[in-house]
Amino acid sequence: MKKITVVLGFLGLSLLGLAQPIVPFPYNMEKDLTADSVMVVTAHPLATKVGIDILRKGGNAIDAAVAVQFALAVVYPQAGNIGGGGFLIYRSKTGATDAIDYREKAPAAATENMYLDSLGNVKTKLSRLGVLAAGVPGTVDGMWEAHKKYGRLKWPELVKPATLLAEKGFQITQQEADNLNEERMTFVVNSTFLPAFVKMEPWAAGDWLIQKDLAETMRRIEGDGREGFYTGATAALIVNDMQKRKGLITAQDLLEYKSVWRKPLEFKWKGLKVTTMPPPSSGGIILQQLLTMTSQSPMASFGFHSTAAVHLMVEAERRAYADRAQHMGDPDFYKVPVKMLTDSAYLAGRMKDFDPQKASPSSAVKAGDIKESEQTTHYSIVDRDGNAVSVTTTLNDSYGSRTVVAGAGFILNNEMDDFSAKPGAPNIYGAIGGKANAIAGGKRPLSSMTPTIIAKNGKLSMVVGTPGGTTIPTSVFQTIVNVYEFGLPLREAVHQKRFHHQWLPDRIVMEEGALSEDVVKQLQAKGHSVLNREPIGRVEAIMVLPNGKLQGVADTRGDDTAGGY
Ligand code: DON
Repeated sequence: MKKITVVLGFLGLSLLGLAQPIVPFPYNMEKDLTADSVMVVTAHPLATKVGIDILRKGGNAIDAAVAVQFALAVVYPQAGNIGGGGFLIYRSKTGATDAIDYREKAPAAATENMYLDSLGNVKTKLSRLGVLAAGVPGTVDGMWEAHKKYGRLKWPELVKPATLLAEKGFQITQQEADNLNEERMTFVVNSTFLPAFVKMEPWAAGDWLIQKDLAETMRRIEGDGREGFYTGATAALIVNDMQKRKGLITAQDLLEYKSVWRKPLEFKWKGLKVTTMPPPSSGGIILQQLLTMTSQSPMASFGFHSTAAVHLMVEAERRAYADRAQHMGDPDFYKVPVKMLTDSAYLAGRMKDFDPQKASPSSAVKAGDIKESEQTTHYSIVDRDGNAVSVTTTLNDSYGSRTVVAGAGFILNNEMDDFSAKPGAPNIYGAIGGKANAIAGGKRPLSSMTPTIIAKNGKLSMVVGTPGGTTIPTSVFQTIVNVYEFGLPLREAVHQKRFHHQWLPDRIVMEEGALSEDVVKQLQAKGHSVLNREPIGRVEAIMVLPNGKLQGVADTRGDDTAGGY
């Protein structure tokens, strides 16, 4: 039986007409690969393959990124998407950098108190499940704009592989099967029809997932570009679902969605140049704050995962996340004091009360005084010219709102939960906020996504990012210090277990075994509470090695796969 599936796997994939080598099922998930000229690292072996095929055809890193984004929307429905949004950081071979923000926007009719009941309590289900949880999707516009500015191949070529994967189907992995089984009822309840993700008997690894409606939607995007999503049949299907279930997204909201080119957040750290995402993500600011605050101590000499190093990192994290809650939101609606928050004197001041012996309770740590006028996915790509792309994209949590648009086959995000529904009320990730991140029509919810590119001596050094909600900036931070501070090889830096602190709740969470029992005891003696939690993040990283070769490392926590040649 197994053999038959494997053979069918080969057959199905050759029917797709994808270039050799075919990725047979069970997939070969390359976790650590070194190659001469190009590298693609994504959350799924088939998406990695699509990226590689585009590069082989002469596409550049942006072409590959666009194709990977659409492929992930088919083969990795937990987070890959056309019904969500994301951020893309670009660094050209000459060192020019750029960023596109294709974050979802609140529908025009959204209001500050839309998730509160008559007593003023937050109805969390409404911001997490069903049509009301969805922001206006940004992905297709973001890809369209990125391609228009930097793409080399023709648009339809970049969407086609996704159309074929949706139409002919592909074999799902064990992780996907488990997740689809777990979410079966939430899909049924939150969609107006039975989507392709639901079947009578449980899903098993190797089953074929065929998405005919999604293939039709992809075909419209292939032919009509941006218009194939924001107008015409696709838009009508979205609006239809909204009307059936009292959602807020209108035809006008779709028509008016615009992604935004932003100036990336850039700073120097240890002689390296870090290029990352500015607001509406909090990620870049937090990363700069963490790297700057910890650089005031000789962290490397403390040792990797030592009590002193973890204590220092966690205390910096506590302070950065207090700032996030108070000061960060959509810069088009709220003046985020970026300059102050990243100022080195300000950050030195933030660590003035740092005590190497004792945890500072979060109740005593407030956001700085400013005086100034969990499912997402990441992919990293380097092309043969040395252009690099770092993308984090999301539906928010796993499978977003669990609403599959009837007749269109794609899942809508639940990004509205990233807003602060009420001052001080935690979202899915326990993050709190206030005015800066309050809901308003047309506003983008505050994100933590941190797609990042690092250059050394003017040359590309690392491309890195991860999913993980509020743990994103701390996972990117840990990966960076693991390499450049503690000197770990990239493979170790990515696969090592992680820990995280976000001010509130006031505790360190860690992957089981991340810190030794002794270190945990010593941290507790300093006043920290330490808790185990499920895996943190799925980092996809590429490094340029001293010999010029590219090393791609895909996280072992999922089906992540590196590909290159
Ligand atoms: O934008 C954000 O920060 C969140 N919506 C990201 C969600 C996420 O990473 C979930 N992944 N595990």
